[in-house]
Amino acid sequence: MRIVVGITGGIAAYKAPELVRLLKKAGHEVRCAATEHALEFVTRTTLETVSQNSLYCDLFASGRTEHISLKDWGEMLVIAPATANIIGKVANGIADDALSTLLLAFSGKPVIMAPAMNCEMWAHPAVQRNIETLKSWGIRMVGPEEGELACGVSGVGRMAEPAAIAAAVYAAVQPQQLQGQHWLVTAGPTYERIDSVRFIGNYSSGKMGFALAQTLADAGAEVELVSGPTSLSINHPRIHRTSVESAREMYAAATEAFPRCNGAILSAAVADYRPSECTDHKLKKNGSEGMHLDLVQNPDILATLGSMKTSEQTLVGFALETDNEEANAQHKLEKKNLDYIVLNSLRDKGAGFGVDTNKVTIIGRNGSRKESPLMSKQEVAHLIIKTITL
Ligand code: CTP
Repeated sequence: MRIVVGITGGIAAYKAPELVRLLKKAGHEVRCAATEHALEFVTRTTLETVSQNSLYCDLFASGRTEHISLKDWGEMLVIAPATANIIGKVANGIADDALSTLLLAFSGKPVIMAPAMNCEMWAHPAVQRNIETLKSWGIRMVGPEEGELACGVSGVGRMAEPAAIAAAVYAAVQPQQLQGQHWLVTAGPTYERIDSVRFIGNYSSGKMGFALAQTLADAGAEVELVSGPTSLSINHPRIHRTSVESAREMYAAATEAFPRCNGAILSAAVADYRPSECTDHKLKKNGSEGMHLDLVQNPDILATLGSMKTSEQTLVGFALETDNEEANAQHKLEKKNLDYIVLNSLRDKGAGFGVDTNKVTIIGRNGSRKESPLMSKQEVAHLIIKTITL
């Protein structure tokens, strides 16, 4: 897609080059347009270097009507950061510089804004009224987020992170081919209690499952996200999150949701075993003696869904293997009655728990096989969804 990134004069402008880089990496062509004040925070050279295109910031440069040629060129306009000033101008039809003129000319095409300002400015009724006006015209807002602001106070006003803005761009360009569908995703680790303060857990961060939920929702599906303990947050109107702790809680939530779903992707790292007993007080050391934990097996959520599955439903599991990877994955696919299994090999550097990247092989019950290079978990999620919903 050809995207114009508009930058206005707020401190968050220093993050604009990162946004441009992410959009370029996703395969888009980018041109930047900046206000005069934006160039107090980020330089022309930086924006031209990352976009590999000349910057548009002077309405009267050599007498050209560049706001018109740029609006003809661009298929989407992303304003990041969007100050209270540009929001107010557009809401009231004011076009007094290069960017505001481009914005008014850019009608009938998608516009995304990432507001950023001091929290009291954000809360001002004039700004809120202008935001509502822009939203009613179909302009999509990403953020602002709560956090520490450049002026030293904390509150709502921080610009959304470039990755979140890039994800909103992705969502806006995605065809909604899963509209009307329901999907279940499990994510994260499970914690199996030993006593009132200790548990057996694993290093799963939940990132892969959250990326899958986001991608499904972006494609139009309603998503039931059943997640074990994780620090991740997700905010999407079509993602309905149930937070659980143990494998048995995850089992209850997943088996309850599955019958109303078109498909399920189980990416959670479920503990295979739990302590046979859990005390409600803290266990004390017993002199210098060692300790034995008696473990019992947890229910296998994936295998249970495999036995419940109808011919209309798609079931996808993950396999984390260290040796005999493909044969083990194939065996799991058959044993648990899956349609696809996503194989992670722990031998691949950059794949697996905690990291932001992954490298997978997607094996289908019909014999299909797709191998990915090392990619971000977001990109792996897109590949998985594309493969299983074709
Ligand atoms: N899984 C599950 N419930 C469990 C254990 C695993 O739903 N109690 C799911 C995982 O979410 C994943 C898949 O099963 O999608 C593979 O998990 P894995 O632990 O690799 O498979 P196991 O069947 O436990 O096989 P093994 O321990 O022999 O590797």
